[in-house]
Amino acid sequence: MFFHHLAPLGASLLFGNVALAARDGLCPPLGPVMPAPRNPSKYDSVKSAIQVVTDRFQNLTAPFNTTGISVAVQSIHEMRPMLEFHHTPSVRDNTSTTTIDSGTIYRIGSISKIFAVLSILTQGQMKLEDPITKYVPELLQLKREAVPVANDITAVNWDQVTIDSLATHMSGIGADLINDLSSFPADFTQVGLPQLTNSSKTGCAGVFGLPVCARAEFFRDFGKRHPVYAPWTNPVYSNVASSILGFAVESATNMSYDAYVQRAIFGPLGMTNTTIFEAPKQRSWGFIPKDDIWFGSSLGYEDIGGGLYSNTKDMLSFGVGILQNRILEPVTTRKWMKPETSTSSPGLMLGGPWEILRSDTVTKDGRLIEYYTKSGNVGSYNNVICLIPDYDLVITILSGGGEASADTVDIALTNVVTALLPAIEDASKTQGESNFGGTYSSSTTNSSITLSLDDGPGFSVSNWTVRGVDIIKNYGAFGALSSGPTDLPVRVRLYPTNLASGRETAWRAYFDVGTAEQLAEGDAARFWPKGTCHTWASMDRLVYGFKSIDEFIFSTRKGKADSLNLPAFDVRLQRE
Ligand SMILES: *[C@@H]1O[C@H](CO)[C@@H](O)[C@H](O)[C@H]1NC(C)=O
Ligand SMILES: *[C@@H]1O[C@H](CO)[C@@H](O)[C@H](O)[C@H]1NC(C)=O
Ligand SMILES: *[C@@H]1O[C@H](CO)[C@@H](O)[C@H](O)[C@H]1NC(C)=O
Ligand SMILES: *[C@@H]1O[C@H](CO)[C@@H](O)[C@H](O)[C@H]1NC(C)=O
Ligand SMILES: *[C@@H]1O[C@H](CO)[C@@H](O)[C@H](O)[C@H]1NC(C)=O
Ligand SMILES: *[C@@H]1O[C@H](CO)[C@@H](O)[C@H](O)[C@H]1NC(C)=O
Ligand SMILES: *[C@@H]1O[C@H](CO)[C@@H](O)[C@H](O)[C@H]1NC(C)=O
Ligand SMILES: *[C@@H]1O[C@H](CO)[C@@H](O)[C@H](O)[C@H]1NC(C)=O
Repeated sequence: MFFHHLAPLGASLLFGNVALAARDGLCPPLGPVMPAPRNPSKYDSVKSAIQVVTDRFQNLTAPFNTTGISVAVQSIHEMRPMLEFHHTPSVRDNTSTTTIDSGTIYRIGSISKIFAVLSILTQGQMKLEDPITKYVPELLQLKREAVPVANDITAVNWDQVTIDSLATHMSGIGADLINDLSSFPADFTQVGLPQLTNSSKTGCAGVFGLPVCARAEFFRDFGKRHPVYAPWTNPVYSNVASSILGFAVESATNMSYDAYVQRAIFGPLGMTNTTIFEAPKQRSWGFIPKDDIWFGSSLGYEDIGGGLYSNTKDMLSFGVGILQNRILEPVTTRKWMKPETSTSSPGLMLGGPWEILRSDTVTKDGRLIEYYTKSGNVGSYNNVICLIPDYDLVITILSGGGEASADTVDIALTNVVTALLPAIEDASKTQGESNFGGTYSSSTTNSSITLSLDDGPGFSVSNWTVRGVDIIKNYGAFGALSSGPTDLPVRVRLYPTNLASGRETAWRAYFDVGTAEQLAEGDAARFWPKGTCHTWASMDRLVYGFKSIDEFIFSTRKGKADSLNLPAFDVRLQRE
């Protein structure tokens, strides 16, 4: 009934039972376990997965006669999307486009929030730990003017609200202001609520015949909203937080928010059809469901957090541009794309403002993979953008119409990820095998090593001999500095890092100590999941003459390794 709008992410992704670490108790580092494929759409496995995804969407959308949907997937290493699917329903607003394609504009809802945070990261002057009142001092007035008795329950402690707390939904402030049942044309006294006087109403909404909510009304009314928690207690999804960040950008840049975002993000990424406060010039550029009231109406200042218009083409440009570091320095992008807080769902962590899905059920190796998403729901528009840094992949799903919901978008994303990612993973392995796999040896030092593929993560390392000594068999001898048994079986696997210089790329080996059964017992003996999986704390520990025993440096030509340097062992092996 209500304008169910800007709702946070639905929770319908399925997660497997938490049991072992990755397959067979292996514990790869978080992140990519093979370099992402450079031309994924060329692989037969990917082509057939694309067919499966397309079939699934044909099935999913076949009954949709009022709902439009656009799905696309692109690798940042390719010029064009590897998958595009568009469904145009027979029933729609009579001003809507009659054919949905990659140019069709939807309202993207809360995907908008990414731009509020990114516009802060693009400037040097605003620090994430700055109190918001440094840029929006008017917030201090809210407390004094608006509540009869200001105390910790009734008023936000704005001095403790920082920019990053707003970016990550950790400020504890109220969720919203313009979404108020009293604006909705219905009689809520019928369901037990009291009669309101006009002074208890916002009197604005931008729909239902009410005027658009302006910045002045935000400062008039937001002090009436109680906080939910003290800052930095718990995540609480807040639309208002994005608007405040937008106000801060305006104050710091002395530009209007939309002019700044246009200059800093939309322009550089060629996002020619993405707008913030302005509806598309022609309604026929958009998909507009029948009886929609949102396309073309303004959310006022809340457009910053939930009002943008965009299309598949621009959303892909955006995702690709982020992963290609075209807007931020690589180090800044890496820091941005990290969790900032957990939530009560083990499958969801939050960044600023990323909704980070975590699942270990998608690839055969059973490892944990993170998906950096932002969902967006306004009226009957339901959308998501998903960046998968491990595979350099961007997925966009835009939809409008009452047959789809936020849950439908979750299921649609599940369709794409579960069908496509295993195939992309296979492509990364095929490419990895060709570029780095096989046996490397040196007859002068009587050394040899074999890198091979199986269903586990990264390369399996075997037959590792240096100066005639079997390294894996003698691994226990390297444990001289630590306690514990030294005779446990060891499995060695090899994973890429992101360190490269000229023709060299650095990888790290990981030594999984114990059999799958022993590790399963260890996990079961602990009260938290995957308790034996602590690769992060075990890397780079065995060092000899300043050089780590787990460091592998490949020398490549045209992307293919021709030799392997093991610095700690002071040997260079040639690829056979
Ligand atoms: C699509 O639906 C048909 C008919 O129900 C079914 O046979 C087919 O397996 C479905 N395809 C996919 C990819 O789910
Ligand atoms: C959509 O199709 C269903 C049957 O598939 C029908 O009941 C419904 O009336 C249709 N809706 C519109 C708006 O035409
Ligand atoms: C579109 O529909 C509206 C009513 O929903 C009607 O007033 C208008 O004439 C229609 N326009 C066209 C071009 O059919
Ligand atoms: C926006 O999209 C419409 C329809 O796809 C297109 O005609 C128009 O040229 C686009 N505008 C820009 C600035 O790209
Ligand atoms: C309350 O607001 C409505 C709509 O803005 C207006 O029509 C009405 O006259 C107002 N009532 C009072 C008592 O001011
Ligand atoms: C902000 O911009 C306005 C004109 O747009 C200008 O008059 C004013 O001096 C600027 N303020 C600062 C602090 O740069
Ligand atoms: C390791 O070496 C042994 C003996 O040389 C050989 O039989 C085996 O196939 C090799 N394993 C791999 C994975 O190359
Ligand atoms: C090389 O190492 C193997 C053990 O892997 C050993 O059997 C062989 O004698 C060694 N060869 C030389 C020349 O040292």
